[in-house]
Amino acid sequence: MTIKDLPKVELHLHLEGGAPPAFVRGLAKEKHIDIGGIFSESGGYRFADFWDFLKVYEAATTVLQSPQDFYRLTLAVLEQSAANGVIYSECFLSPDFCGGRDLIAWREYLHAIEEAAAKAEADFGITLRGIITPIRHFGPEKARQTARCAAETAGRFITGFGIGGDEKIGKLADFAWSFDMAREAGLRITAHAGEWGGPESVRDAINDLGVERVGHGVRAIEDLALVDEIAERGIVLELCPGSNVALGLYKDFRAHPIAEMLKRGVKVTISTDDPPFFHTTMTREYEMLHRAFEWDEGVFAQIARTSIEAAFCDAETKTLIQSRLEQANG
Ligand code: ADE
Ligand code: ZN
Repeated sequence: MTIKDLPKVELHLHLEGGAPPAFVRGLAKEKHIDIGGIFSESGGYRFADFWDFLKVYEAATTVLQSPQDFYRLTLAVLEQSAANGVIYSECFLSPDFCGGRDLIAWREYLHAIEEAAAKAEADFGITLRGIITPIRHFGPEKARQTARCAAETAGRFITGFGIGGDEKIGKLADFAWSFDMAREAGLRITAHAGEWGGPESVRDAINDLGVERVGHGVRAIEDLALVDEIAERGIVLELCPGSNVALGLYKDFRAHPIAEMLKRGVKVTISTDDPPFFHTTMTREYEMLHRAFEWDEGVFAQIARTSIEAAFCDAETKTLIQSRLEQANG
């Protein structure tokens, strides 16, 4: 089986971050919106560093103005994922970009996203679940409004709550109220930490928010006692090596701590984060890891198993995806 065809499970993908540049340009043209210099001459997204990336990301989202736009986006993103062998995906959904955290508007956007997900499941064989994500640099008050949207729409499709954005701004503890509300509504918890913050930010995610998964968490490697604790407690890392390399956190895949984490018994998973921004796909992540660490199909099959075990979906969906993985792995 080729690397592209290996069945994959992705747990860390931002829906807007999956928007192909041509898709964003097309919507901008349709709507006569000037989104300025966010593209390079070759047509990809252009940014200098993580903070510039966040600005470009937010500029790109300005063309997404209706539930119908999100329907088209969801379908485009899932078609791409499925073409790279992904059979189950969890996407970060941000009510900030879907009606400005207004609950009535959010329900309409969510309905469109779910309709697209149902079509993608029927047409491309990929299952989607949503993790609602406030944006850290928008502040705790907006996160509370986001948490209300999350609590009101928690269920079979919306299964988790997380937080993304600029890790250097504010403290995770400032968002504890929102996470408590989400947890009480039955949502499972993850948070971006240990990407631009050091190991202490991963400890904050564990201690202040009670996460069972960490978005990135890669910089835990700078504190081996923390790595041991993560391994012992079975906390899952949503690692995104290509994203980290593209943003300059590590110079290449060989320098990425994923193999060391795996060796130390950490439950590692592989995701793309914002694939067109970082010129990656799940196939490319696998290929680069194969080249860097000589990982074979057995390692990837084990990582896919870890990923579906750590998924936030219901037991029935999990069993279905597990059986698809096992069938493919013979
Ligand atoms: N939003 C989209 N991608 C992100 C990342 N890599 N880190 C934090 N927030 C994000
Ligand atoms: Zn992310």
